[in-house]
Amino acid sequence: MGNRSNEDAVARLMAEMTLAEKIGQLNLLAAGEGLTTGAATDTPLAKRLDAGEVGAIFGTKSLASAQALQERALAGSRLSIPLFFAEDVIHGHRTVFPLPLALAASWDMALIEATAGFAAAEAAAEGLHQVYAPMIDVTRDARWGRMAESPGEDPHLAGAIAAAMTRGLQGTAPAAPGRVAACLKHFVAYGAPLSGRDYDNASLAWEDLLEIYLPPFADGVAAGAASVMAAFNAVNKLPMHAHGPLIEGWLRGRAGFDGLVVSDYTGIRELVAHGLGAPATVVLRALAAGIDMDMVGEDYLIHLPALAEAGLEAPEAGLTLSAERVRALIDRACARVLGFKAGLGLLDDPWRGLTGSPAAPDRAEGRKLARKAAARSAVLLKNDGLLPLSPDTRLALIGPLADDRANMLGTWSVSGRAEDVTPLLEAVGALAGPPPSHAAGCNLVEDDWLIERLNVHGTTVTRDPRSEANMLAEAVAAAKAADVVLVALGEAKEHAGESSSRLCPDLPAPQRRLLDALATTGTPLVVAVFAGRALALGGIEQQCGALLYAWHGGIAGPEGVADLVFGRAEPSGRLPVTLPAAPGQTPLCHAEDPTGRPWTGRFAKFRTGWLDLADDSQPYPFGFGLSYTEVSYGPPRLSATEARPGEQVSLSVTLTNTGARPAIETVQLYLSDPEARITRPARRLVAFRQVELAPGEEREVTFEIGAEMAQYPLAPSLEAAEWVRDPGRILLHVGPNSRDTLSETLTWLA
Ligand code: BGC
Repeated sequence: MGNRSNEDAVARLMAEMTLAEKIGQLNLLAAGEGLTTGAATDTPLAKRLDAGEVGAIFGTKSLASAQALQERALAGSRLSIPLFFAEDVIHGHRTVFPLPLALAASWDMALIEATAGFAAAEAAAEGLHQVYAPMIDVTRDARWGRMAESPGEDPHLAGAIAAAMTRGLQGTAPAAPGRVAACLKHFVAYGAPLSGRDYDNASLAWEDLLEIYLPPFADGVAAGAASVMAAFNAVNKLPMHAHGPLIEGWLRGRAGFDGLVVSDYTGIRELVAHGLGAPATVVLRALAAGIDMDMVGEDYLIHLPALAEAGLEAPEAGLTLSAERVRALIDRACARVLGFKAGLGLLDDPWRGLTGSPAAPDRAEGRKLARKAAARSAVLLKNDGLLPLSPDTRLALIGPLADDRANMLGTWSVSGRAEDVTPLLEAVGALAGPPPSHAAGCNLVEDDWLIERLNVHGTTVTRDPRSEANMLAEAVAAAKAADVVLVALGEAKEHAGESSSRLCPDLPAPQRRLLDALATTGTPLVVAVFAGRALALGGIEQQCGALLYAWHGGIAGPEGVADLVFGRAEPSGRLPVTLPAAPGQTPLCHAEDPTGRPWTGRFAKFRTGWLDLADDSQPYPFGFGLSYTEVSYGPPRLSATEARPGEQVSLSVTLTNTGARPAIETVQLYLSDPEARITRPARRLVAFRQVELAPGEEREVTFEIGAEMAQYPLAPSLEAAEWVRDPGRILLHVGPNSRDTLSETLTWLA
């Protein structure tokens, strides 16, 4: 909170509130059907509002609904304490931007901040005060569907994104006009579930927690994020909704967070299923661990009144709390909820943000930003000179996603509308000379049961009643009649996202068969993959002349692709996740710890690797992406090859755009520590810089290197963790991706 008058306002209210009123503030409910102004509705939510039993609501779908709910809440609250309103605004609100994973591929923090800023303005205009973003779960497992929402595999990149999004959402303060409170989620290690199965638990070294999963939260907190959401999973045996050592200990104690912690959807009552005790017990475990608000489950509301009178003795769960202690914990949580409201300006003005002013930003401007973001997010993985296409190319547009709207939005686009999407056929048609021909070529997936599951949030996948042979024949004929085929393949929107883990994250079988058929025609293929995760692409590269990984790009995703295909935009995306060659390679990342028999990138008996992975089948490395030009890297130069801690060393590299088109180059710096007290990652990203280079331009890029870059945690336990750094040799690797680097050695003297 950190603001004196806010603290006073909270203290004044707390002094007047009854226990029931305090418990009511901890209750966070979904809007459901909502309310309309003045209506004497008798829904369960309306009854709760009348009784002053709600602290906040999420999922209101309009300003009018938020206004009506606020009116009702103020009338039902003896002390006129207002609600705040929240929503999942994950990659845009009505204006849907590329998926967070796609935006991460831009490596452009100003762009990411701008998309978050636009989303905040749209959300705020609808009466929202808080959004459940940024999602900053580092993940290295392509099976996990929520990779779509994540910033990818790397903590350094994720941390930069956490800060950029927080700045974009909150501006100078969450209460500023057109801004909202950010909510960092999901705390923590939700991206490391066993087998990539959503909601499953994570067991990992404390060192990994401290170095991989926690840093983006530290960066988001440092950027001023006003709230945090707990994760559904257990970390090292303790479910996060009961994880006092991480929430009260690390987050508040070490990282200095002083905002609001909300549960995830029914996350508190789910502690019962986790095996942490009876409903009343888990309520106290969550409250004591530092979960301030209870989303949807209403377990605080149900159990806290009695617990505050009697306390609890639950030796079976190792918990004993006196009634007095319970009341103190309720006070602590309630003060945080009120502090959050004060920070939003709601204690001064309960209608703050609910008057429709400032108005929503211009959607046409949002569309331009979305189109730019889509072009910046797509990653060119292969180009044998086929791209960019000249506008007079006779193009066939083939594939189950060639004329698609809804799936382009991507998962977690709750306020987006399919009608806002320009499908690829239309986007390409607008830039092409001769109108492209079109054929679906195959169904997106084979099985009816899978189609049913993919349509859980509304129909986005339908089955073409024709036979596969018939569809393939039509596609092959169209391909034969064209100069170039643009093939649009990939995943449906709900292939990725929550509860969408995949056993085998690759291209669905009918799409592979389509590609095989098209490859026999001899017509050059440009393949565009629209997906919500790092798909294992197998041998696609051998079948096509150009390969573009376009993710799910939001309302203007296909237009961004069309811009790249016709050279109206320069490809600059770089992978924020390693693309495995085969699905069984996952989890996979550039920063793995070496074994005693390190993988050399190809099979060798008695070395780490895969027997059944062909040697010519290689993953696309983290940080990889091509341009329409070539950028050469000169040898890296260190200002000193030895230094003492506290001294700065600089590392410079000269880049030259040797091609004929402009470049947006992301220079990446990796570090390895080959001799340390414990095994350290083979290499890890420590800095990056994006620079523009005109054709023929030469430019020097300099990184400042400090000894702290090489520090690492030693953690026999969370409490005993310490960050250390050793004298000795480190290697610094500079290059356009995590694989193709040039290295220098720097020695830290004792
Ligand atoms: C998700 C959260 C989301 C919440 C509210 C949960 O199922 O895990 O990410 O913010 O629902 O919609």
